[in-house]
Amino acid sequence: MSYVLGLETSCDETSVALLREDGSIVASVVSSQIDMHRRYGGVVPEIAARAHLTNLPPLLDEALERAGARLEEVGLVVATAGPGLVGALLVGLAEGRGIALGLGVPFVPGHHIEGHALSPFLDLDGGPARAVPARFAALVVSGGHSHLFSFSPSGIVVLAKTRDDAAGEAFDKVAKMAGLGYPGGPVVDRLARSGRVVEPFAVPRFKAGAHDLSFSGLKTAVRDRLAALGFSPNTGVALRGPALAEEDAPGALCDLLAAFQEAVVAQLEDRLERLHETERFPLLTVSGGVAANSLLRERLAAWGKRRGVEVLLAPRALTSDNAAMVAFAGLLRHRAGAPHEGLSAPARSRWPLEGLPWAPPPGA
Ligand code: KG4
Ligand code: ZN
Repeated sequence: MSYVLGLETSCDETSVALLREDGSIVASVVSSQIDMHRRYGGVVPEIAARAHLTNLPPLLDEALERAGARLEEVGLVVATAGPGLVGALLVGLAEGRGIALGLGVPFVPGHHIEGHALSPFLDLDGGPARAVPARFAALVVSGGHSHLFSFSPSGIVVLAKTRDDAAGEAFDKVAKMAGLGYPGGPVVDRLARSGRVVEPFAVPRFKAGAHDLSFSGLKTAVRDRLAALGFSPNTGVALRGPALAEEDAPGALCDLLAAFQEAVVAQLEDRLERLHETERFPLLTVSGGVAANSLLRERLAAWGKRRGVEVLLAPRALTSDNAAMVAFAGLLRHRAGAPHEGLSAPARSRWPLEGLPWAPPPGA
């Protein structure tokens, strides 16, 4: 096999990647649709699916050109089969199946969350992927997911997950209420850095499901403080674009955002700390859109040092959705001979990762 072809179309990023068998990235191209969805304040499934249809063929050509490869040199095809928007997933799945059938090569349905969880093992500079150990923990924090998984030869287990909003969703909602537009993560990250935590928010704790995450109470608490600051929390701003220019953000808002961001990070740290007491994972991967957050990166790296856990942060460019991570997840499954549905895999809006057997790479 010379190249692994990866296709990702689960949400609002169209992406194509070519990897070598050692997991090195030969080409990775991503076309973001954020500008098309911004005016609606979130991803519109129908627009996403149509945009994937238009974007995928030229992106495939571009990836092949960058790699200096021909399609005939592809020996394995991986396309994201879920979880995601079904109409969007179908575009990549149909393309991937068609290419695999046409070339007569194997097809592996890619699991989007598994891709995120494994993305920190990839090297952005084209080097081989790091060896994936048989046992590790993975924190996946994105716009749609906030999960802590344990990967081990006995399978994939969810150690913690959110009861309500995902971490990225909380960033997006807070930014929207403050009139800062969509997506919220990057702008909140920047503004929070120029604020300071004057009045911290409490970290939620639960009796039953003590490791559960929750961000909706925090969002409501932010809304109340925004109101007290004289903001009328605006939920319709997206249609008109940001109501507040970043450079006009008052100091009190920056302080509030700093307290919000601190509360998100503190909650994740709290759950990691408690879980590590019983689980003792030697390595933790941190991935998904929120893994681009500067405070999260700093603090989890420091937590790892304190606890003797090797913390692998996804390279920033691979925190958002991309095909390289999905190609890598499919490659590992293929290499390990793990069971999968091949060409008959349907597009799945929900697809629990914990249902899948984890096949650690041979020799791990
Ligand atoms: O992984 P991703 O690109 O898409 C999903 O699969 O959801 O994650 C997007 C999410 C958005 O909610 C966005 O606001 C958030 O990641 N995000 C951030 C940052 N950059 C993106 N959140 C916090 N800080 C950031 N720097
Ligand atoms: Zn994602």
